[in-house]
Amino acid sequence: MFKINENYLKLPGSYLFSTVGRKEREYKEAHPEKKVIKLSIGDVTQPIAPSIIEAMHKAVDEMGHAETFHGYAPDLGYEFLRSAIVNGDYKARGIDMDIDEIFVSDGAKCDSGNIQEILGLDNVIAVGDPVYPVYVDSNVMAGRTGTYNADTGMWSNVIYMPCLEENGFAPTIPEQTPDIIYLCFPNNPTGAAITRPELQKWVDYANEKKALIIYDAAYEAYISEKDVPHSIYECDGAKTCAIELRSFSKNAGFTGVRLGFTVVPKELKCGDVSLNALWARRHGTKYNGAPYIVQRAGEAVYSEAGKAELAGQVAYYMNNAKVIKEGLAEAGFSVSGGVNAPYIWLKTIDGMSSWEFFDYVLENAGVVGTPGSGFGPSGEGYFRLTAFGTYENTVEAIERMKKLIK
Ligand code: MLT
Repeated sequence: MFKINENYLKLPGSYLFSTVGRKEREYKEAHPEKKVIKLSIGDVTQPIAPSIIEAMHKAVDEMGHAETFHGYAPDLGYEFLRSAIVNGDYKARGIDMDIDEIFVSDGAKCDSGNIQEILGLDNVIAVGDPVYPVYVDSNVMAGRTGTYNADTGMWSNVIYMPCLEENGFAPTIPEQTPDIIYLCFPNNPTGAAITRPELQKWVDYANEKKALIIYDAAYEAYISEKDVPHSIYECDGAKTCAIELRSFSKNAGFTGVRLGFTVVPKELKCGDVSLNALWARRHGTKYNGAPYIVQRAGEAVYSEAGKAELAGQVAYYMNNAKVIKEGLAEAGFSVSGGVNAPYIWLKTIDGMSSWEFFDYVLENAGVVGTPGSGFGPSGEGYFRLTAFGTYENTVEAIERMKKLIK
């Protein structure tokens, strides 16, 4: 008789954004006359930039001719894309990187869930609280998190690093020593960022404790301040303790196109074992690569025209972030984030819980956000709004939300 992976039964409820999506659908069905504005999941709304579309069209045409047709992509991704990444994201920032350290994939969400497969089950993970739910949920599925306490919303084998007002909504080094540390900067969901010297402390700590940092830099394109690092490899010694996850979803609007990559440095070892070799083995066995057409689109992200167009897109979304942050602050909300990240983290009003506030905002302003408690217990009493809507909808949503404060 077959057996299921019982770890799945431990997962409390559905994936956060599935629950938010269901609630939005139900509300719309019950109120078809109302215009609901979605500022919940960080999904982009601007069309793919013209030079990227052009590169995709060209690649589509190539696929229609025997001489230029492409079948399976190379295991780690096409060299043209991996070189563009190395030059555009690393060498341009003074970071030495080899193309064999870059693993192209169909997105950082999958990579952030899959990466723990090459790590032992007895590792203790540390996560920010609140945190992007995939890190915890994928470790639950693997059986690494122990038992769930429904009262506290915490797992017995997970070290939670609270991200609260007093620490600028960014995690600080925990008392208990973890084996694996998940860091996300600029942070999803709080929008917090840290400086290079602050990140250096994490790198030094991980090297000292022989811990591994899984560094999610999916939002690096949104950094506006100079002393905030775009990559963990800007810190000395990061190559011996960190894996970096990158995404094209937010910097190039690829949420529907699907492209990302993971950096596993060759120096990163557990004893004599190279993590780069393990991930290469896993990638080669379980993955057939992002489509050629999409990898050509990714290459165009690094072209001069692509870079200029995408800078405009990032500026467009960051202007939305400003509209949200300044508008809500003016109305009396307590807000943070939105300076180096496309997320605004706000306190609920009148002592409402995150989900109570979710319902209140939906019913009274027709705006969908994401309840902070969905990201972890320390998110309770908070609410996340994304800057990825259209400008017009963002302005309208904030005008409506301003009226919630009497
Ligand atoms: C979010 O809203 O947190 C993200 O868009 C989710 C994701 O990237 O998977």
